[in-house]
Order: sequence, then structure tokens, then C-alpha cells
Amino acid sequence: MKGEVTGSTLKEADLFLEGEVLVNMAKKYGTPLYVYDGNLIIRRFRELHNFIKWPKLRILYAMKANYNIAILKLLKDHGAYIDTVSPAEVHLVLKLGYLPGHILYTANNITDEEMHEVKKTGVLMNIGSLSRLEKYGKAYPETEICLRFNPDVTAGIHEYVRTGGDLTKFGILMQDLPAVKKITDKYHLKVIGLHEHTGSGIAETEKVYQSMKNLLGIAKREDFPDLRFIDFGGGFKVPYSPDEKRINYDQFGKKIAEIFSEFCQEYGNELEMYFEPGKYLVAEAGSLVVQVNTLKDNKGRLIAGTDSGFPHLIRPVVYGAYHEIQNLSNPFKPGTVIKKYDICGNICETGDCFATQRDLPEIKEGDFLAVKNSGAYCYSMGGIYNLRAMPNEVLILNGRDYLVTKRLANEELAESIINGSRKF
Ligand SMILES: Cc1ncc(COP(=O)(O)O)c(C=O)c1O
Repeated sequence: MKGEVTGSTLKEADLFLEGEVLVNMAKKYGTPLYVYDGNLIIRRFRELHNFIKWPKLRILYAMKANYNIAILKLLKDHGAYIDTVSPAEVHLVLKLGYLPGHILYTANNITDEEMHEVKKTGVLMNIGSLSRLEKYGKAYPETEICLRFNPDVTAGIHEYVRTGGDLTKFGILMQDLPAVKKITDKYHLKVIGLHEHTGSGIAETEKVYQSMKNLLGIAKREDFPDLRFIDFGGGFKVPYSPDEKRINYDQFGKKIAEIFSEFCQEYGNELEMYFEPGKYLVAEAGSLVVQVNTLKDNKGRLIAGTDSGFPHLIRPVVYGAYHEIQNLSNPFKPGTVIKKYDICGNICETGDCFATQRDLPEIKEGDFLAVKNSGAYCYSMGGIYNLRAMPNEVLILNGRDYLVTKRLANEELAESIINGSRKF
């Protein structure tokens, strides 16, 4: 079943930063440029608390979506906890003032060194394999842990981000519960949390309920008497294309609270409910602004070449992801001439396109384009392929703009390669 959807997304669209603001930012800071709307991020964070009415709801921002420090600080100031997946992520949020008790470390094929490094910080470890559980128990008996189970439900926007089901590397299979118990008993480990994550960009709400029920089905008091929280991962979908509808999260939240409430009554304790959204909090708040510098007409195929490329925003190349593109310099109005364009970057690969055969208001060299929904898994998945530095990042909050991350100048980038290399 598809998720319940609400009607028009127009009202939602009114929330987003005006094209004029993005053009002003592009003129002030240069392009390519990431611009984030801090007020929208906070709005999304608060919305989740309104949708999911559970007194002990904790929202752990999945910082892999975007590790911009202004976003991390903003969410901390509004009460967010954090979902981390690498030791450097843990160090970063600790340095920004997150408390160890508000951070979860989800270990995925980690080394012993990583395990010890994170353990030293006092952050709780979320363990997703029998092998790691054994090594952890041996090193740290009689300590608290969280266990990641595979929910045995497959859902998500693309096969690379569907983490449930026994064909993926994630989580302990539920059928391995007896083996889990053997290890936790042997080392007197105290399981205070259970976790599952089904996938990213889940359209089918029924699948979320099913994942929750599957995990709760093994969360029995006789097996796990010390539970403080259950973590249902992330995956809240937001629309990327204009014809996609928003999921009715109000209805969704009510159903989630109902399922959890029933479970807690049976368990005999009102537990904390964790969710770990990334996209929901930040995807829509971001735009990548680029400038067109070269137009080509290849036997009728129009190609607009821009000053950015896939190392700055890789989702279209990796996942075939759709990102809406707006011509900020020639916004659509009735009567606007529309043409079909390939919107390409400046990288030496044919696949280096943000969009192909996209209908857009006529583009001229010098026009600014916005690649929308670029707040999640865009900058954070970026790199410097072809030695082009990552863009500046600006956060707009309450009408003021803040340059948060500064782009390296070309010579600085070259220097950083020399400085970071072994001397010859
Ligand atoms: C364990 C875990 N939690 C949370 C998330 C966040 O997912 P999303 O950004 O779709 O909310 C992910 C994404 O990959 C994840 O792997």
C-alpha cells in the first residue's frame, strides 16, 4: 500500500526560500553555493514532535545527511539528539557540545580500534552483528549496549538505501535472537536499547508499521528486562519532484504512537521512542546554486554547462535521483518560453549532469540555477574530484545569512594536497 498522502504541496512550497534570496546569496558569496534555510529545519524538527505525540520521544538527527556545524548547533539548541556512524562524527558533535548521553553510535563493519575509540567517549554503542557483539562483550563486560536488528522489511527510495531484509549487510537477523542472548548472558551485557532502520525515503507507511511491529515482537521483558528505549531509525520521506505528494505525517504519527503505546503497556514500562531522521529535517532546506557559463546546441539537444558538478551533488549520478531545478534568473511565469535542457557540470565525465532533458524557462549564459532539495546527502557526500573545491555553505536564519563553511581557493586546495601528503 502507498503511504497516505495529503493534497496540494503548494502551501508547503510557500515555506521555502524565495528565488530572489538565492540570487542575492549567489551574488554575495559566489557560485557554486549551498544555501540552507535554518528556520525550515527547526520547523521540520518541531513538526515531528507534533505528529508523533509520545511523551518520551527523542529525535536523533542522522548527521550523515549533513554535518554542517551551524545545522548541528541549531538542532542541538532545539533539543535534538544525534545519530552517528563514525568516530569523527562522534568527536565533532562532542566538540559542539552534545552530551555523550544524547549520542548513539551505530557501528557498521567497524574495527576494534574504532570500537575502543568511541567507547572511551562514553557514547552508547549500537551493535549490528554477532561478531561485533562477541568482541564488544569480551572487551567491555557488564556494560550497557543497544542492539540493531534487521527488521525483515524492505523499503526505501532506491536499492542502495534499503537497509532491511536479509540481502543487506545491516543488523542482526531476528532468528539469531538465541545466539544474541547467549553472548549477552555470557558477558552480563545490559541491553538498554533496541534498534532497526528499514531504509531511506520510505513511501509506504504500512512498511514502517510492519518494521516497528517486527522489532517490538522480539522486545520481550523476559529477554530484554532493562530496555530504556526503542529506536525505529530514519527514512521519513519528503517530496523531491513537484508532482510528489507529502505523506500525511499527522495520521502516520498517530498510528506510530498507537503501536508503541500498546507495546509499552505489555512491556510494563513507558519507554523512550527514538527516531533518526536525516532527510526529513534537512533535505528541503537546502539549495545548490550554480551559474551557467556555456550553452551548446548539439543538433537540437541543448546543453547548459554550469560551474559545479557531481562531486558537489552526487545523488543524480549514484541513485538516478530527481532534483528539481529552477532558473532563478528567468523564473517561470505564464507565457515564459520553455525549452528542454541537459543541465551539466564541469567534470570530465559524460555522466556529470544534474538533470537530463528537463523542461525549463529559457536559459542564457550567466543565469543562476537552483538545484532544489539539496540539504541532505549532497554536501556531506561531496568530494574534490578533478580538484575542484567544495562550495561555500551559507545558513539563513531569521532573515540573516551566515557563511558557515568557506570554499578553499584553488591555490589553497593545491596547498592542502601538498600539506596532507607525504613529503617526497
Ligand atoms: C541507521 C540509519 N539511521 C538513520 C538514517 C537516516 O535516514 P533518512 O535520512 O532517510 O531519514 C540512515 C540513513 O541511511 C541510517 O542508515
